[in-house]
Amino acid sequence: MPGRIKVQVLADADAVARAAAGVIVSLVRDNPDAVLGLPTGSTPERTFEEVVRLSRAEGVSFAKVTTFNLDEYFGLSGDHSQSYRAFMNERLFKHLDIRLWNTHVFNGLARSPEDECAAFERKIAACGGIDLWFLGIGTNAHIAFNEPGSPADGRSRKVPLSEATIAANSDGRFFKDPNEVPRHALTVGLGTVLDARRLLLLAMGEKKAAAIAASVKGPVTTDAPGSLLQHHPDCTFMLDRAAAAGL
Ligand code: PGA
Repeated sequence: MPGRIKVQVLADADAVARAAAGVIVSLVRDNPDAVLGLPTGSTPERTFEEVVRLSRAEGVSFAKVTTFNLDEYFGLSGDHSQSYRAFMNERLFKHLDIRLWNTHVFNGLARSPEDECAAFERKIAACGGIDLWFLGIGTNAHIAFNEPGSPADGRSRKVPLSEATIAANSDGRFFKDPNEVPRHALTVGLGTVLDARRLLLLAMGEKKAAAIAASVKGPVTTDAPGSLLQHHPDCTFMLDRAAAAGL
């Protein structure tokens, strides 16, 4: 039954980050063994800062938390400054008491992407599934690296990146030159995301407004992967006013 996405519109990006961090830290306080799904990119940066601040202020330990990340560039080592493993270590993990061996990011140098992806799915299942998957969304409504047209029940796999995503990630925030951006990634599938017990998607800024409108009130279609979240029974979007402008 589509149309179940709960939408919270907050005053600005800082308010979104504080609210999202509140959700994550409360979850860990209530369930110290929580299994979290996490994104990278610009969207989670402030939220991760707030998670660190709030968990310290409230004495919430991440020592028993397990995490899985959405995706990783294929061909980059976890030591590469633009790898998502490096992003996670720098922006979040090293500031928490989380055990690095409980944090899972695809190995971008895996010799067999198929084996790496199958093992990732098995690890999620072995942990009992994801309690909360924290998500961003692309300007083309992609979720992780599931570009438009990706199957709704897709699992972890190696995918080519779209030109739109390569352009978005070489605008100077991450890579300076489109030629530096890897052409493939390992990503969880939309089915992997939809299996999580809760979804929390954040979007800020007018560049995301069209993707948000298509996801919340558009038809459920693989052309706009975010719209598939309408099928999830517990999905919240936290938005600033600019990202909510099309609703
Ligand atoms: P961003 O990317 O957080 O850097 O805007 C989100 C995404 O592409 O999914």
